[in-house]
Amino acid sequence: MCQSTWHDFLRGLPKCEHHVHLEGCLTPELIFSLAAKNQVQLPDAATNPAYESIETLTARYGNFTSLDDFLHFYFIGMSVLNQESDFADLAWAYFQKAHADGVHHAEVFFDPQVHQDRGIPYETIVAGFVAGCKRAEAELGLSTRLILCFVRHLPVASAEKTYQDILDSRHFESDVIHGLGWSSTEVGPPKDMYRDIYASAAQRGVRLTAHAGEEGDPTHISVALELGATRIDHGIRLVEDPVLMQRIVDEGILLTVCPLSNVQLKCVKSVAEVPIRTFLDAGVKFSINSDDPAYFGGYILDNYCAVHEAFALSVDEWRTIAVNSVSESWIGEERKKELFESIDAHVLKFAELV
Ligand code: ADE
Ligand code: ZN
Repeated sequence: MCQSTWHDFLRGLPKCEHHVHLEGCLTPELIFSLAAKNQVQLPDAATNPAYESIETLTARYGNFTSLDDFLHFYFIGMSVLNQESDFADLAWAYFQKAHADGVHHAEVFFDPQVHQDRGIPYETIVAGFVAGCKRAEAELGLSTRLILCFVRHLPVASAEKTYQDILDSRHFESDVIHGLGWSSTEVGPPKDMYRDIYASAAQRGVRLTAHAGEEGDPTHISVALELGATRIDHGIRLVEDPVLMQRIVDEGILLTVCPLSNVQLKCVKSVAEVPIRTFLDAGVKFSINSDDPAYFGGYILDNYCAVHEAFALSVDEWRTIAVNSVSESWIGEERKKELFESIDAHVLKFAELV
């Protein structure tokens, strides 16, 4: 835990979260209770001892060996969500945690293909998550955005079906779906598997992001940009390509960095290896995020604190991170102005830390 004054500063610093998977907020407790409620069979503990109890599952989460090792558990976990209210309650649980951590604006991912694959209708999933977002806006004063993520371990045809569901329900026009992303297995499937979908979405003016440069080399990032992404999720391997890094700076592209996730998935050995200092010095814009907080042992504030412990940033550097998080959020100018003002007011209160 960082020192108490710094902790107060970081907790109250107005934050935008741009990289959190709502399904990644399913704790082991919630997985077991929803499985019982919805009569979903979790893996047999005889073949997968991690599912013996909440404690054994929690312990297993501390030993992920790679992104794909984590994804195995992540996709089992989300299989317990059935009813619209399960999705709504999950989102609401996340927003309450985020609010307590000083999040004012949250852009949240969800993976409908995986639920649709087991027979849950697109409308049920979206209606549940939208209800959670609306509640957070009404009761907590957050602004929210829903970003639909395609998952790279399923065939392109599955993504095309979900894309058609979005078009049929006119969810781009009604701003229910604010953007598209891609996630899941990075290394293996074709880098440009969503070329056609992204081209179609870009033509409609839909915002595009992509998980790239987490485990995969920087060519995953350049392909994402080529396909129209204007934001990169993770992107930590960008440091291996200085020319591409300069392009990201010049184009003002935001990286949504997730330090605790990177450590837990063995992308880096420690938070100190996440290229925070390199990005700050080079002028790369980034936000700090939780990714899958129920799996990686920390919500957004834990990630802020871990970064502060590793890098001892100045108030001015934290202000830069907060300001960039607002300026690259997918919100209007008026909301940005409100958030800039809250950041300035907060930084003034902690002038003695300078
Ligand atoms: N889905 C959920 N978390 C993910 C991550 N860290 N990388 C890729 N896909 C994910
Ligand atoms: Zn992610």
